[in-house]
Amino acid sequence: MRDASPQSAAETVYLKDYAPFSHLVDKVELVFRLHPTATRVVSRISFRPNPAAPAKPDTEGLPQPDREKPQLVLHGEKLKLIGARIDGKAASPRLTKTGLVCAVPDKPFVWEAEVEINPSENTALEGLYMSNGMYCTQCEAEGFRKITYYPDRPDVMAPFSVRIEGDLPVLLSNGNPGKKGEGFAEWHDPWKKPAYLFALVAGDLACHRDSFATASGRKVGLGIWVREADIGKCAFAMDALKRSMAWDEKVYGREYDLDVFNIVAVDDFNMGAMENKGLNIFNSSAVLASPETATDANYERIESIIAHEYFHNWTGNRITCRDWFQLCLKEGLTVYRDQQFSADERSAPVQRINDVLALRARQFREDNGPLAHPVRPESFVEINNFYTATVYEKGAELIGMLRRLVGAEGYAKALDLYFKRHDGQACTIEDWLKVFEDACGRDLSQFKLWYSQAGTPRVKVEESWADGTFTLTLSQKTPTTPGQPEKRPLVIPVAVGLLARDGSEVVPTTVLELTETRQSFRFKDLAERPVASVLRGFSAPVILERSHDAADRLFLFIHDTDPFNRWEAGRALAKDALLSKLRYGTEPDKAYFAALGDLIRDLELDPAFRALCLALPSQDDIAQALHDRGVVPDPVAIYRARREFSEAMAAALQPRLAALYEYARVEGPYSPDAASAGKRALAAATLSLLTLVDGGHRARAQFDAADNMTEQFGALSALVSIGSAEDELSRFYGQWKTDRLVLDKWFGLQVGLAAPEAAAETAKALTQHPDFSWKTPNRFRAVIGGFAANPAGFHDPSGAGYRLVADWLIKLDPVNPQTTARMSTAFETWRRYDDDRRALMREELERILAAKDLSRDTAEMVSRILA
Ligand code: ARG
Ligand code: ZN
Repeated sequence: MRDASPQSAAETVYLKDYAPFSHLVDKVELVFRLHPTATRVVSRISFRPNPAAPAKPDTEGLPQPDREKPQLVLHGEKLKLIGARIDGKAASPRLTKTGLVCAVPDKPFVWEAEVEINPSENTALEGLYMSNGMYCTQCEAEGFRKITYYPDRPDVMAPFSVRIEGDLPVLLSNGNPGKKGEGFAEWHDPWKKPAYLFALVAGDLACHRDSFATASGRKVGLGIWVREADIGKCAFAMDALKRSMAWDEKVYGREYDLDVFNIVAVDDFNMGAMENKGLNIFNSSAVLASPETATDANYERIESIIAHEYFHNWTGNRITCRDWFQLCLKEGLTVYRDQQFSADERSAPVQRINDVLALRARQFREDNGPLAHPVRPESFVEINNFYTATVYEKGAELIGMLRRLVGAEGYAKALDLYFKRHDGQACTIEDWLKVFEDACGRDLSQFKLWYSQAGTPRVKVEESWADGTFTLTLSQKTPTTPGQPEKRPLVIPVAVGLLARDGSEVVPTTVLELTETRQSFRFKDLAERPVASVLRGFSAPVILERSHDAADRLFLFIHDTDPFNRWEAGRALAKDALLSKLRYGTEPDKAYFAALGDLIRDLELDPAFRALCLALPSQDDIAQALHDRGVVPDPVAIYRARREFSEAMAAALQPRLAALYEYARVEGPYSPDAASAGKRALAAATLSLLTLVDGGHRARAQFDAADNMTEQFGALSALVSIGSAEDELSRFYGQWKTDRLVLDKWFGLQVGLAAPEAAAETAKALTQHPDFSWKTPNRFRAVIGGFAANPAGFHDPSGAGYRLVADWLIKLDPVNPQTTARMSTAFETWRRYDDDRRALMREELERILAAKDLSRDTAEMVSRILA
């Protein structure tokens, strides 16, 4: 077996170098003879010369006589080649670092190969691997090349037929089921697809079945495949799937296109889930739920991931990406679609606020640090490192902006044209923008900059008032990012509404298009100076710079008719108050607490919205905000200030909070619906504040009485926050030690909420716990990721936190490079901090980089972070 040193293979791939593949593939037939350590894969692939390909592929290094013949260059990694044939005759390909090269006829031909692979040894969880005795695959982005020799690139699309041979009760692959018998099953996928959408699952699995009738009358068999013991935890995911299928028909006119749709839950998985054609594979945390074991937040996440992967069937599978630089074509659009779905199924304003919270927490953090990159990157070393918040979440924001610019009708027309024009193709961002230009008659050349320019734009707002005219002057500036010293002005849709002093709306929401560096917009014939509500609904992924007085913010917090901006005003007040407390020791303004007190008992308002208004900006948000103002953040001081602020808030709101807590409790059997979940969120928000001032007696009572995980875990979290949960933590462990998903919560909670001085010790102790199965990504993320997300603990001035995380990254890297690389982002903000912390973090980053045989994944990430 060949095992090229990853670092020597670390070459940069550039968007500008794209060239079509030398051949087209008409058909792929695969036979799998499953064996835990020696699986045989026999492939039979029909190739034909691609008329669109450049004259000759790169033949450098080939023996002279072969250079004249057409060459077939296939990807392949960690494969043992048993034999290869072309049109039935033995072929002798030359093995290379990345696969093989073989001289081939100048006409259509059939390539056959047999390879051997070792699924048991595959701890990277990419390609064919084993999890709990079950065979399973993950091919996106470049995992198929670990299964057999193939042009493993998304622009090579073909129909696949698969035969699986193995002594296991369940044998699944993509497409429709074919022949089946003792020890084998056949599958045929009629839709041509790139290899990254290939999937195979084999194991002893139980199935939760249902069916769905499409609008045109196709009956689709639905199955969720899980371990027998989990069969009772599939109903919610199934319901979410059926709602997703109906929604995509209703809103996008997209029907499902196979006879079956299967979902498999697997415990060892590097990400959330994967949209393999007709056979989605999910991290079990994104499928399994029961009232006793899953929280409302888990249910919500399951619903959105089920929808996301299902929606990929059209945006990703039927229309895929030409190359991996176009990843946002499918991911940005599919995230946008799953956000729309959740907004429709639940509360649109609450969904928007949550989406923006996530965007700021992950994407703004990325976009304002060393890992900043465009939504469509121009180069990469390891593509797995570009499944980022920028590609996904900022990518989704770009779709939302497009829709705002062309209107809902224009958007619908453009999408219809997209599906009509590009079905069955592998496309680019140029194709995508062209359908909008053609359908809506709008020039999008300036808009396109959003795809190539990294960094979060700052939009400054100035206002003036004279003679009945209110003028808003907006100016934009995008800070420099790695490799992009110069930035050009973007098209920024800024939704604005104007309010009169009595709170009535004098100018309803209007979208201003900021296209220049600085531009003024006038509103005439007004009776009095209005209060402007700017960037309503968060109409663009920018940072608003507005030197607003507190009175205007308070006014908007009380009166804004746009729920997003009403929430945003409250958040800005809280943030300003926290920043002044940290910088000048100022005590919080009572007026904010008073307005908040009125808001939370306003029965007209959605409880979920009220819960969001009670939450303070995160520690990391505050650190970034300080950094933006040129102040070096001290994570421990931030933790303390935020805690004191919460205590002051609890004290100020006290009698009301207690009443609200009683009001918000949901009686009766648990139901995950949005209304009940919203009330429980409000109860949890009040409980966590009350716990700061009541010694924890309410939380203890709730913990003892809870019959669902939302309430049990909410109570436990409140107690862990005040450092008074020893007994409850051990009871919780005793109750749930055999449930791996609940146990992840138990681990994560302790490291995530531990007090600054105790966090590193807690994390260290938990890594010695017998249940810390570190090779399982979910468990590793719960403990190491959870700890790194506890800023005051991670940034302990001793450096113990940094050392702990670095030690574990070094240990995980040889086992699972993808997860290691992703978690190295714990260090991405290192430059924000003081000299001592910076030096400590740099030392750890350099230590990781120096680790022997460091993976290409982690090497790329750490070098970018350090650069
Ligand atoms: N396409 C999958 C999704 O968004 C994610 C695949 C992630 N792959 C990776 N190599 N990180 O649903
Ligand atoms: Zn996706």
